[in-house]
Amino acid sequence: MSLQDQLKQQAAWKAVDYVKSDMVVGLGTGSTAAFAVDRIGQLMKEGKLKNIIGVPTSIRTYEQALALGIPLATLDEQPHIDVAIDGADEVDPNLDVVKGRGGALLREKMVEMASDIFVCIVDDSKMVSGLGGSKLAMPVEIVQFCHKYTLSRLSKLKEVAGCEAKLRMAGDKPYVTDNSNYIVDLYFETPISDPAAASKAILDLEGVVDHGLFLNMVDVCIIAGQTGVEVKER
Ligand code: A5P
Repeated sequence: MSLQDQLKQQAAWKAVDYVKSDMVVGLGTGSTAAFAVDRIGQLMKEGKLKNIIGVPTSIRTYEQALALGIPLATLDEQPHIDVAIDGADEVDPNLDVVKGRGGALLREKMVEMASDIFVCIVDDSKMVSGLGGSKLAMPVEIVQFCHKYTLSRLSKLKEVAGCEAKLRMAGDKPYVTDNSNYIVDLYFETPISDPAAASKAILDLEGVVDHGLFLNMVDVCIIAGQTGVEVKER
């Protein structure tokens, strides 16, 4: 296993300490969250966790959890979640995060908003001084209808001025989310100056479903680095 994967696993295993028997657990998406899902499955198999219900945040995670034998439900069936565990693409000093480079941002946000505790798990390469600062994508999920028009309007918002907006592709076709939508990735040269204003302006655009800025949502962030695992609480 690569060093980065070892760090992801350490953060994930630490997060699973927050899961107790009889809990409803939000199951995140991505390579870090996958370690947590595996760990929950393993502890259930060993009888150390009992009566867990998982609420997956993507079709990928649904399939992983199903294969592990974790009983599953949707938010319709389990609208109250005790704890959700998920990775992130960027974490700033306030524990605000960017998520969704894996394309699962909408279901992740719905599940994590419904959770009493959202535990975010990252290796320390995800830490940034300001959101958008890694120069990697900040995703926005949009409806397919007139997507070029929505992309153009997104790129012109003053709250994200200077960003480059690109439709996410899967080969020669647009990438399609689990919700049958498209994703526009926003690339910034410098961190977003006012993430709250950007969040509101993006959401206010017709055609936008949601975006990857998860502000004031993380309760606990577990950061694994070569010098150890740090637990930060909001
Ligand atoms: C999925 O859509 C994302 O939000 C992931 O949680 C995020 O991209 C982190 O993924 P990794 O753990 O694979 O870096």
